[in-house]
Amino acid sequence: MEKKAKFKNGYTFSRVINGCWQLSAEHCLIGKLDYDDAIRAFHMLVDEGLTTFDCADIYTGAEEVIGRFVMDLKGTGRYQEEDIQVHTKFVPDMDILPVINMEYTEGIVDRSLKRMHREALDLVQFHWWDYNIPGMLETAFDLVKLQKKGKIRNIGMCNMDTNALKLLVEAGIPVVSNQAQYSVFDRRPERTLLDYSAEHGIYTFAFGTLAGGFLAERYMGKKYEAPETRSQVKYMQIIEDSLGWDGMQKLLPVLKEIADAHGVTISNVAVQYILNQKSVGAVMVGTRNSRHVSSNLQTLSFDLTAEEMKTIRDFIGQYPTPEGECYELERTSPRYKGIILTDRNEVGK
Ligand SMILES: NC(=O)c1ccc[n+]([C@@H]2O[C@H](COP(=O)([O-])OP(=O)(O)OC[C@H]3O[C@@H](n4cnc5c(N)ncnc54)[C@H](OP(=O)(O)O)[C@@H]3O)[C@@H](O)[C@H]2O)c1
Repeated sequence: MEKKAKFKNGYTFSRVINGCWQLSAEHCLIGKLDYDDAIRAFHMLVDEGLTTFDCADIYTGAEEVIGRFVMDLKGTGRYQEEDIQVHTKFVPDMDILPVINMEYTEGIVDRSLKRMHREALDLVQFHWWDYNIPGMLETAFDLVKLQKKGKIRNIGMCNMDTNALKLLVEAGIPVVSNQAQYSVFDRRPERTLLDYSAEHGIYTFAFGTLAGGFLAERYMGKKYEAPETRSQVKYMQIIEDSLGWDGMQKLLPVLKEIADAHGVTISNVAVQYILNQKSVGAVMVGTRNSRHVSSNLQTLSFDLTAEEMKTIRDFIGQYPTPEGECYELERTSPRYKGIILTDRNEVGK
C-alpha cells in the first residue's frame, strides 16, 4: 500500500499519522506518561518513514512535546523543516466563539508556532463547536489571511459535517482535509461525508479507527473492564451503539484470521480497512510510547484483498452504526457531549 499521499499543491504526508492527543494531560486515567519513551517512539517512527504528526492547540502539553522532539532533531544537525510534517488544530473555546476575532486567532497560531519551534504550521485544522453561533466562516477567512502571511501552509477542517464543509468550500475556503471519526464501529462518514469529500478533492483524516486501542489482540475473549484512558470511555459509547461488546468479540477473530494471513496485527487490518475507503488520505493512530511502534510500522506493508475487504464489510454490515452525521451526537446528545471538553484552549496559554 502507498506509504504517502499528497495534496494538490504537492505537500506530502504519511498515510499513517502519529496522533498526539495521547500525550495530553487529560488522556491518561491510569498511570503516567513516559515522555522520554514517547520521544524515543517518535524517532523510531520518523526513521522508518512515518514522518507526520497530528497535534492540537487544546491537547494540554502535547505541542510542547513536539517542540522538544523538534529541538532533539535539530540537535542531530541533520534537521530540515520538511523532514517532518506537523499538523495541528485551531479549536477556539466554546465561550470565545461569540467574540472571536483575528487577534485571538493569530495569537493561537503564533503560540503553536512558538511551542513547536516551526517556521510555519504545515496544516491547521479548524474546529467550530456550535454551528448555531455565527462567525465560523469569518474565522476560517482569518486563517486564510494567516496562510497568506506565511504562518500556515495548508488549511484543513476538524469534525465538520457535510453541510458545514459545503458552506466553507462554497465560500471559497481552500479546504484540503477534514478530520472525522471513522472505524468499523463508527461508519457515520459513509452516509454523505466521504462522497462529498471525494467529489471536492478533500482528504478525510480518520481518527477513532482503533477505538482507543480496543481493536487489538489483547481484548480478544476479554470481558469489559474499567477504561484505562479518557478515549476508551468515549469509544465504549460508540461500541455500545454499534456492534456492542459481544459483537466486537465476534469481530476480533474475523480480523485476526485476516491479520494472520498477512503476518500482521488486528490493529493493522482495522487501520488498512479504513485507509482503503473513499477519500481517506490517512488514519491517525494514537502514539504515546514505543510499545506499538513495530506494529504500526507494518500497517502499510501489505494489501488487504478485495475478498478480505468484503468479509469485513459484510460482517460489520449486520450491525447498526451511530445515528446522524459525523460529530452530530457529540454536538447534540447529552450522553456524547458529556465526555467532550470544550474549554481547553486557555489552559497554559
Ligand atoms: N478531531 C478530533 O476530534 C480527534 C479526536 C480524537 C483523536 N484525534 C486524533 O487522532 C489521534 C488518534 O486518537 P484516537 O482517539 O483515534 O485513538 P486510537 O488511535 O483509536 O487509539 C490509540 C490507542 O490505541 C493503542 N494502540 C496504538 N497503536 C496500536 C497498535 N498497533 N496495536 C494495538 N494498540 C494500539 C494505544 O493504546 P495504549 O497506549 O493504551 O496501548 C493508543 O493509545 C489522536 O492522537 C489525535 O491526533 C482527533
